[in-house]
Amino acid sequence: MGEIRKVEFIRPVLTGELVVPGDKSISHRAVMLGAIAEGKTFIKGFLDGDDCLRTIEIFKQLGVSIQRSGTEVMIESPGMQNWTQPTLDLYAGNSGTTARLMLGILGGSKVTTVLSGDESLSIRPMDRVTIPLKEMGAKIHTDKQKSLLPLTVVGKTLNAIDYIMPVASAQVKSAILFAGLNAEGTTTVTEETVSRDHTERMLTYFGAEVDSNGNKVSIVGGQTLRGMEVHVPGDISSAAFFMAGAAMLEGSTVTFKRVGLNPTRTGIIDVLREMGAQIEITNTTDENGEPSATVKVTYGSLQGMTIGGELIPRLIDELPVIALLATQAVGTTIIKDAEELRVKETDRIAAVTNELKKMGADIEATPDGMIIHGPTPLTGGVLNSYGDHRLGMMAAIAALATSGPVFIEDPSCINISYPHFFEDLKILTEK
Ligand code: S3P
Repeated sequence: MGEIRKVEFIRPVLTGELVVPGDKSISHRAVMLGAIAEGKTFIKGFLDGDDCLRTIEIFKQLGVSIQRSGTEVMIESPGMQNWTQPTLDLYAGNSGTTARLMLGILGGSKVTTVLSGDESLSIRPMDRVTIPLKEMGAKIHTDKQKSLLPLTVVGKTLNAIDYIMPVASAQVKSAILFAGLNAEGTTTVTEETVSRDHTERMLTYFGAEVDSNGNKVSIVGGQTLRGMEVHVPGDISSAAFFMAGAAMLEGSTVTFKRVGLNPTRTGIIDVLREMGAQIEITNTTDENGEPSATVKVTYGSLQGMTIGGELIPRLIDELPVIALLATQAVGTTIIKDAEELRVKETDRIAAVTNELKKMGADIEATPDGMIIHGPTPLTGGVLNSYGDHRLGMMAAIAALATSGPVFIEDPSCINISYPHFFEDLKILTEK
């Protein structure tokens, strides 16, 4: 039997101050751009979770010198034209961001590599990336259908494309932009709904010329980048668990310091406000093109709402904890246009619905989301994380609202994005 963790609280309240770990998306991109660029890159506030460590290991295999001490990372790269040919497969573990962005980078490199992943990643669709990359002339091979991992990538000079994305995905957009950096001509990506724009911001910060205009981004191929110093803000997707906890527990107030507030990621703030929580934002700053601030979240009596359309990419990773929150809100919450949840680390529509139902929630899965009627008392129980970090954290936050203990199966997956999650939960609940 796998690991099980018991989480139980007697009349919990969340209070205090937190600095949540570094943003996962920005940490991946800082390492990637540091390795693509020539010279030294220094990263502070790096997320030392399993997914981002995979990205570091891959670049070490490509001959990039990377030293890490906790959340500080020093990179010294000869530039991507001078990477060395690895002898072993490049293993992306559970990390979709590593796999998809690396395909774009490796496609235009000078090395031949095999990219592989764990059981969950090996069934996640890669054709959304391989289709446009192949249009650019990339040589990517697999024996499997739908371009599933493992994939062999024979790096070569690519051709620019003008691509209209069929799904709102920052991973797909980023893979194409990275490939565009090594293509002949100008590559343009158009999205129907704007997804997170960390790649565009960081490419610009590293000295690349990128033209972002609403839902259209262009990059000219053949640009050389120089190493930079990057300060990674706290991950709003990690803070979201405690934000939701504070919003639903009477008497709670939590202050988050230096949390990233890139507008393509702040859907959770909009939802908490609209549902009835009190949010105060102060000390807004900007570092390496990414805004951050102090965010104070205070309990409010919550109402259900409809979440869909352009809001979805701005809170896609927060939907499991939002579903939990909705079980404690008065009225109906409808989550729609979120079919992407079905192809995350697990099918998050099915998984969230199953686990919340086990505790007595009134929740129904739809093809593209969930319908939740609240408020319902929750009982606790044995909850499966499905090896998905965000499901594991949702289960732990649920325990704040349950009458009995929650037992989380396979909680170690939480290390993927929040290695000190349980320590931080303790800080906020032990007063
Ligand atoms: C990410 C983009 C999102 C998100 C993932 C991280 C990124 O995925 O769910 O956790 O860093 O680009 P999609 O782009 O596939 O929606």
